[in-house]
This record gives sequence, structure tokens and C-alpha cells, in this order.
Amino acid sequence: MGEEDELDISMPCCLHLLSAFLAMEPPNVLLSFARDCGGGCITESVQSFIWKHCISHYDGKLHVPYMKNCLKKLILEVESKGVVLDELYEQYTLYMTSIRENDFTKNSRVLKTISFVFPDEYAGLASCPKTRKLEVPLQCSLNMLEGGTGCCIWPSSLFLSEFILSYPELFLHKSCVEVGSGAGLVGICLRQVKASKVILTDGDLSTLANMRSNLELNKISATNDSLDGSLHADKVKCVHLLWEYATEDELQSFAPHIVLGADVIYNPSCLPHLVRILGALLKCRKSLPSFVHDGRECSNEIASESGLQQTSSANNNYLNNEVLSNDLNKHPVALIASVIRTKDTFSYFLSLAEEANLHVMDITEKIKPISLLPYMKSYERSNVRMFVVSYLSK
Ligand SMILES: C[S@@+](CC[C@H](N)C(=O)[O-])C[C@H]1O[C@@H](n2cnc3c(N)ncnc32)[C@H](O)[C@@H]1O
Repeated sequence: MGEEDELDISMPCCLHLLSAFLAMEPPNVLLSFARDCGGGCITESVQSFIWKHCISHYDGKLHVPYMKNCLKKLILEVESKGVVLDELYEQYTLYMTSIRENDFTKNSRVLKTISFVFPDEYAGLASCPKTRKLEVPLQCSLNMLEGGTGCCIWPSSLFLSEFILSYPELFLHKSCVEVGSGAGLVGICLRQVKASKVILTDGDLSTLANMRSNLELNKISATNDSLDGSLHADKVKCVHLLWEYATEDELQSFAPHIVLGADVIYNPSCLPHLVRILGALLKCRKSLPSFVHDGRECSNEIASESGLQQTSSANNNYLNNEVLSNDLNKHPVALIASVIRTKDTFSYFLSLAEEANLHVMDITEKIKPISLLPYMKSYERSNVRMFVVSYLSK
């Protein structure tokens, strides 16, 4: 095949194919993108692209049972209509002969890469300008129960991450604390938009260990989980924080501007503790006149001087949104993304919040993030709701 037949990796369909592959989307999703790339069928050029960009580039890092399954389906489809590339046959044979399925089922952790794909006007936020992508590799479990619920990537953390990356100026130079951080995706996005302080917390120790290795994987240094409020700007703190046992003093020391939580409203027995935690974190800073940046006090104008501000003003209804941007500059708020699986559980959360003087506002339809994961067909974005929680002082 000649050079001229090579598919361009920056073409949207190629970007989607590669991103879906790295995020371990189901094989039928990959096949559908592969067909798009070939104008309806999986041509030799498409196979060559898959071989070069999806397989050989990531040699040794891919989850073999997943790869085997994808290649099997791809080969079956191509064989019925055309010629399969030798390299793909050889790779499939290699997987067939070398695979010891037990090795993979015993350890169900896999490496998924979440690629946030930015539209042109937001390209400044991407780590790779050519592909307009921010790639976040994460070690996570395939099995939800292995390593606790926090080792999976839940849809609300994808949504909250899209939100953070869509409205970076909100988080710039802000001190952020996340509860129930799980695999650490939200924290990695907060570093990307230059939050001044990022504290990730979780009550499960194996989740916390996994979160730390995910930060390292993304070249972010994680500090010890001591509970003092100090933290160097380029570091992320991972803290073991069980909602049931955290003391007011511990929570006060975080002094956040923004509290975050993704998919943390699901277990009724934990909700009274979660609400207490939110109340304590939201009460602990009376006003937010200024933030400390580079060792000096600075105001919100610093945010407006940055390139990030321009990036988001393109389609932004945020800056005109009095509710959130004003609130955020006056007092701490919590941003909670949630899939409402059981109405009763959510109503219980609302009643507890009301008792605790917390105001919960649904902003899902008012402040929408940009769709940065268009290739991720397994992600039901419309199921996620976004809430702003603030403390009503008496
Ligand atoms: C459904 S997972 C969501 C994880 C992550 N935020 C996401 O969206 O991918 C819930 C997380 O909350 C943590 N969690 C649940 N109950 C907790 C508690 N009582 N104290 C502290 N963390 C808790 C779990 O360990 C888990 O990481």
C-alpha cells in the first residue's frame, strides 16, 4: 500500500476509532468507526491504520482478551468481503497461542485511556495540538466489585471532567476538594485547568492506592495523605477520608473554594455522613475575596488574563450565568454530578440536605459542558445530572 493511501490520524473518524480503541469501547463500536474510516467498509488502509496506530504502537500495553475479541470480530467481517492484512492475522494468532486467560481474569485491572477530544476553538486545552486531544491513561477494574466501586470509571466522573474542561476559568487558581474520588480522573482534569490546590479523597484504601498510581501514570506527583491544609501547587494530595469518621477540624483544614463529587449519591446508609461532610466543607470558608497564586494574593482578574478564559468564552453561557459564577466568587460551592438510579435515594439526599441548610440546584439544562467524548458510545451522557450545592447561612 502506498503512502498516499495512509489515513490521516487527525481525521475525526480516525480520531474516534483510535480513542474508542484506547478507551476499550465494545468491539462493535470499533467496527462501526472502522467502517466510517473506510467509507462503509474496512478497507486495507483502515486495517493498516488499526495495525499501526492501535496495535503495534501500544505493543505489550493492551489487554489481550479485549484485543483478541476485537481482532476476531474484525477478521470475521473483513474475510466475508475482502482481504485481511497479514499483520492482523499474525497478531491474532499470537494472541491465540500466547494467551493464558487465567492471568487476565485473576487480575482484572486494565489500562484504559480516556481521550478528551476538543473542538477547534478549544484546541488550546488539548495536550496534543495536532490531534486536539487530552489523553488520560487510567488503571481501572473491569469488574465493578474488584477493588471496590472506586476502581471503575463511573459516567458522572466523565461528565464532571467534561464540565471542568469546558469551563476551565471556574477552576483556575481555585482550591478544590473531591469526595469519593475513585480512579482520580476528576483530579487529573483539575490539574489540567490549573486549580491551585487539588485534594482527592476516598474512604477505600485499595481505591486510594489505585488513584495514586493513576496520578503517577499521568505524571502528577501525589503527596502523603496528611490532613494539614498545606499543599504545593504542582501536587495533588490523596487523602483517606471516610465520611463516617472525618472530623470537623479535618474538614475545616481543607478550606476549599469548590467541593466536587461524582456518583457519590447511591448508598442511603452513607448519605447522612456525606451530607454532614458537604455541610462542613461548604461552611468552612466564609468568603472568597481572593486566592493565593504564586505566593501572592490575586483576584479573579488573574483568571481573565489567562488564555483559558478566552478558550471558554467562545460558546460560553457560563460567564453570563449569575447563579454559578457569582456564587463561586462569594462562597464555596459543591458541584455534584450524579446518575439518579433510585428516586427514593435521591429524595432522601434532598431531604437531608434541606435539614442541613444546604441548597441543591439542578443546573444540568442551564450549564452544559461541551461533548468531549463523542466516540464513547458506552457513556450515557444524558443520564447524568449536575447539581450545585451551597450552604445557606442563617
Ligand atoms: C460509585 S464510586 C464513584 C467513583 C468516582 N467518583 C467516579 O465517578 O468514577 C463511589 C466512590 O465513593 C467512595 N465512597 C463510598 N462510600 C464512602 C464513604 N462512606 N466514605 C468515603 N468514600 C466513600 C467509594 O470508595 C468510591 O470510590
